[in-house]
Amino acid sequence: MTSSIPSRVRLIDVGPRDGLQNEKTPVPAAVKIELVHRLQQAGLKEIEVTSYVSPKWVPQMADNHEVMSGITRQSGVAYSVLTPNLKGFDAAVLDQPDEIVVFGSASEAFSQRNINCSIAESIERFAPVVEAALAAGIRVRGAMSCTVGCPYEGDIAPERVAYLAGLLKGIGVQRVDVADTIGVGTPRKVQKALEATLQHFGIDDVSGHFHDTYGQALSNTLAALELGVWNYQSSVAGLGGCPYAKGATGNVATEDVVYMLHGMGVETGIDLDLLIDAGAYISGFLDRKPHSRAANALLTKRAG
Ligand code: HMG
Ligand code: MG
Repeated sequence: MTSSIPSRVRLIDVGPRDGLQNEKTPVPAAVKIELVHRLQQAGLKEIEVTSYVSPKWVPQMADNHEVMSGITRQSGVAYSVLTPNLKGFDAAVLDQPDEIVVFGSASEAFSQRNINCSIAESIERFAPVVEAALAAGIRVRGAMSCTVGCPYEGDIAPERVAYLAGLLKGIGVQRVDVADTIGVGTPRKVQKALEATLQHFGIDDVSGHFHDTYGQALSNTLAALELGVWNYQSSVAGLGGCPYAKGATGNVATEDVVYMLHGMGVETGIDLDLLIDAGAYISGFLDRKPHSRAANALLTKRAG
């Protein structure tokens, strides 16, 4: 089994975006910028920084411009942002992201709740965004929510994931995230969602995005590794949750994924100690412990 596991993994830290979007406490732009700086110091090569969505829907991301323009960029690091429509893209492009993310859903009900339109309408909205981004030399990723389960519709069949992946491929999306938005997935179900996606995208262009609500995200990551998937989104300190998926907790903690991968001899390019410092920084601001078992264990060990 282990022979098929990739020897190297690329992590996209989505903490500043997916992580903080659901925080009730306003997080000042300066704190978000410092978090991004600490993540890049820790060796993250991809960081999902913010989203250009309606500030009425997601107030925490209203400072998108301030954050994106305040970062001291490091060469070799890619900064991505969410853009649900042309209005979002037009604002984002001024801040020169390396990659934009359109975000659709395998479930109709979640599409309506999250972006206020059907799956078909979302594709119509995304198409000109993708076209404009590619014309501007900006890479395009597509996030696919609810690929295993939906808070409103329950189980989601892999065929619906394949259908969405095909639509995204059709409009020019270059790579996709297979998201278990509410963390209900278990390893074999997650593998089915990934296999459905692999009907349309190559192995280098598929990433796992697993929320840890039911404590399955690390197991699901291992299951995805078994398929050869080597790109993952994770959130420093396990920050986060989606405002339109009630009760969903954050993504799998980056610290936990890095601890597991390094323990398996898989290369990430990340310095776990500096990553733990980044997680401790934002958790300190939010006045709580990191939602990462590995981080807390190592912080306790340090203190001792
Ligand atoms: P809408 O109401 O259908 O849009 O919202 P609209 O075009 O009718 O516009 C309504 C108002 O919003 C107007 O303002 C627009 O100007 C404004 P008003 O005239 O009322 O003052 N507006 C915007 N403002 C700023 N930026 C924009 C923008 N677009 C319109 N881009 C919309 C549609 C998509 C905008 C809305 O539903 C929205 O913002 N939703 C938020 C979605 C979101 O951020 N969800 C969380 C991120 S996705 C996620 O977490 C899942 C993921 O992690 C994967 C996973 O885990 O599943 C990626
Ligand atoms: Mg998410």
